[in-house]
Amino acid sequence: MTQSGELRITLLGATGSIGSSTLDVISRHPDRYQVHALTANTNVDVLFALCEKWSPRYAVMNDETSASDLAQRLKRKNIQTTVLSGESGLLQVVEDEAVDCVVAAIVGAAGLLPTLAAAKAGKRVLLANKETLVMTGKLFIDTARENNAVLMPVDSEHNAIFQCLPDCLTEYHSSVKMTNRQVKSGIERILLTASGGPFRDFSADQLHDVTPEQAVNHPNWDMGKKISVDSATLMNKGLELIEAYWLFDMDIANIDVVIHPQSVMHSMVTYSDGSVLAQLGNPDMRTPIAHALAWPERIESGVEPLNIFDVAKLEFEQPDLDRFPCLRLCYEAIKRGGSATIVLNAANEVAVAAFLDDKIGFTDIANLIEQTLNLAIITEDVSSVELILEADALARMITKKCIAEIH
Ligand SMILES: NC(=O)c1ccc[n+]([C@@H]2O[C@H](COP(=O)([O-])OP(=O)(O)OC[C@H]3O[C@@H](n4cnc5c(N)ncnc54)[C@H](OP(=O)(O)O)[C@@H]3O)[C@@H](O)[C@H]2O)c1
Repeated sequence: MTQSGELRITLLGATGSIGSSTLDVISRHPDRYQVHALTANTNVDVLFALCEKWSPRYAVMNDETSASDLAQRLKRKNIQTTVLSGESGLLQVVEDEAVDCVVAAIVGAAGLLPTLAAAKAGKRVLLANKETLVMTGKLFIDTARENNAVLMPVDSEHNAIFQCLPDCLTEYHSSVKMTNRQVKSGIERILLTASGGPFRDFSADQLHDVTPEQAVNHPNWDMGKKISVDSATLMNKGLELIEAYWLFDMDIANIDVVIHPQSVMHSMVTYSDGSVLAQLGNPDMRTPIAHALAWPERIESGVEPLNIFDVAKLEFEQPDLDRFPCLRLCYEAIKRGGSATIVLNAANEVAVAAFLDDKIGFTDIANLIEQTLNLAIITEDVSSVELILEADALARMITKKCIAEIH
């Protein structure tokens, strides 16, 4: 914290969709937050503009060439931000003692090491990068708990569930001690809502012909490309299922996915007395980000409260696991345990990148994940980062080989 009491923030993935929503919220509260470090992969133009605006102490580009490009541009403008690069740069701005809060908004497995480092350094971690939890599961939760990290879910569904938990549990949750089932205070089920994506009503034939342009246009949420495709295949909901399983220590049989096309009810918790608590709001990530930043207080986020009369009706339906097999594969991977969710996540990342590159079709994504899960050796021991990264690398190789065979 600064001498005047502002929370110092490292924002991983500052140039992305979550990054920009986070900066929008922070800009409304200059008395509460100070941007300490901003990071990106290759997008020099946007990170340069952000450095001009925010004057962070550090800027990190994962890509070395982009880092030297950024450093030169900042020097020409006499901006004092120090530029770092690569994995070591990312770890430095996460572990920095001056940092209070790390927003983990890098997309994909690339976010794993810095997000895990934030938990290990005992920071307040705003978790948007769901792939970290999908890959490291127990290791991540144990690391956060052992180091008294405060783990705040940013994904709108998990943030909604967090908001529907009784205070005694969120107090526990702040230091990630949800593992004791007795403290669950009558919680029976978690209902994870999903919009159903842009192809909710498509037939199997129509799904076959979906193009990348169609898939990145989500009807309700404005997001990065990878998560938009994941939303269209329902893989995003599957990854969130795995995330909820670890975050809330819930038996997978007690987590349901509910298709809710309006995307205003962001998830629900059912209790033993028959109560169902839900969190509602406009579909705008600034709400969960503001909640995660300020909890246990509340701050203005720039999002208008939901006008319930405009919504008029709320619909709920069961997901179709035949047309959207990615969700089924996620349920199966959790039940299988060990490295299955690591393999699933790696195969999905490779397949989505190939789809966005026009190398495979939309329905090939699920087929490739299933093939990879069948071909990979699923190992029981995933207790170290090395073992996790090894399983991830092997799975990527298998999926790439399967893609090569399609052509
Ligand atoms: N968008 C949403 O509404 C939403 C909601 C819930 C959860 N999430 C989760 O939040 C994460 C971010 O999503 P997003 O939609 O904000 O993604 P995005 O718009 O694609 O942004 C991704 C960010 O990660 C950076 N990045 C990409 N590859 C990297 C690498 N190898 N090393 C370091 N940085 C890298 C990008 O930098 P460049 O710009 O330089 O490429 C960018 O800053 C994802 O895990 C997603 O599942 C997103």
